[in-house]
Amino acid sequence: MWGGRFAEGPASIMREINASIPFDKRLWRQDIAASRAHVAMLGAQGIVDAADVKAIDEGLQVIAAEYEADEVPEDLDLEDIHMHVENRLAELIGPAAGRLHTARSRNDQVATDFRLWVRDAIDAVDAGLAAFQAALVGRAEEHADTVMPGFTHLQSAQPVTLGHHLMAYYEMARRDRSRFADARTRLNESPLGSAALAGTGFAIDRDATAATLGFSGPTANSLDAVSDRDFALDYLMAATQCSLHLSRLAEEMVIWASQPFGFVTLPDAYSTGSSIMPQKRNPDAAELVRGHAGRIAGCMTALVMTMKGLPLAYAKDTQDDKPPVFEAHDLLALSLAAMTGMVETMGFVPERMRALAESGHATATDLADWLVREIDVPFREAHHIVGSAVKLAEDKGLGLADLALADLQAIDVRIDASVYDVLTVDASVASRVSHGGTAPDQVRARVAEAKAALEKG
Ligand code: ARG
Repeated sequence: MWGGRFAEGPASIMREINASIPFDKRLWRQDIAASRAHVAMLGAQGIVDAADVKAIDEGLQVIAAEYEADEVPEDLDLEDIHMHVENRLAELIGPAAGRLHTARSRNDQVATDFRLWVRDAIDAVDAGLAAFQAALVGRAEEHADTVMPGFTHLQSAQPVTLGHHLMAYYEMARRDRSRFADARTRLNESPLGSAALAGTGFAIDRDATAATLGFSGPTANSLDAVSDRDFALDYLMAATQCSLHLSRLAEEMVIWASQPFGFVTLPDAYSTGSSIMPQKRNPDAAELVRGHAGRIAGCMTALVMTMKGLPLAYAKDTQDDKPPVFEAHDLLALSLAAMTGMVETMGFVPERMRALAESGHATATDLADWLVREIDVPFREAHHIVGSAVKLAEDKGLGLADLALADLQAIDVRIDASVYDVLTVDASVASRVSHGGTAPDQVRARVAEAKAALEKG
């Protein structure tokens, strides 16, 4: 492609370090779409004549079919996807192929192709997140009344409902979708026509190519456009945060599936056995989702490090932008699909959740609230009274609700039998009616809103 100035070909090691085709062939669809938009515009502007435009466009469609059928051989000498397509075009239509690169550089070409690829990736992740949310909402509705222990410090804290717990992840996914949507909006400007770095003297129409490719308009600064990879970083940062959420849920699944908890039975389809211990059913899928989150964060860090300190404009370092984005995307898509499948099929064990909710003195706050409400005790004093009741219950090996009224009255004479109404876990969750609280009616209201939002898309 630049033979005019060079007397010798590259050393084989140069060929190897320089080539991006082993990974950037994933951009073939976007590369061909951008080239078709570019050549149509060159024709409309009278820069390339109609016969050549037609030959180039038809040739590009043939190449697309060849890539679709996975028929294009890789050649490290041709460096990247852009040169592969152009070289193949020359084989197909002859010298007219050389007109395609008028008023264009691989610098604006790769920036355009990659934006288009990341845009598609965002759309795919958004669909995956919507499916994940639908799975959570479905199970939350089923378990709006199922009582489980809520934790702080992984210590039994207050009873909550399983539906409420699952809807917490729905909210995380909602924020993830909004982060990806923001990234998509910022990404959606076309670098095409920025050429190598300074723009071009040809009378091109950047608005036209931007519109053809579904961009909202052309980028405003050619130096920025060819060297900017914020869109890839935005994607990776949103992916990292999304993977953190999946990883937290994965960690809970691992804990819930452990024998001491026994809150869930893992579906056969998402667990593995052991080659030596016949009783085993391991939460491998959840563990891998937890692991993948680390790798996705690593991809994000890799591109941050690549971009740090690059002078304007294009530098070859940015060729290293693609592997971390591709890797993170593949890991995230897989993690989302696995978590969606697990949420849909996981066997919850409500009896076990209830038993643990009832065993951890989780209604202690309810007793304190009762003292405040019914006999007007300041909360701090109520906290102290209830502390004595919990200690007594612990000494006797009983739950708070199992203490005799005489025992409670020995701690504070003002306590009467109506206190038992608030000491059950069902009464406790039913009382948490503040907006966004765990009361089953609140959970059902949030589920209804979520369903409406998902239907709207
Ligand atoms: N393979 C290159 C990349 O992915 C294409 C751009 C090459 N431009 C250049 N000036 N060498 O970044």
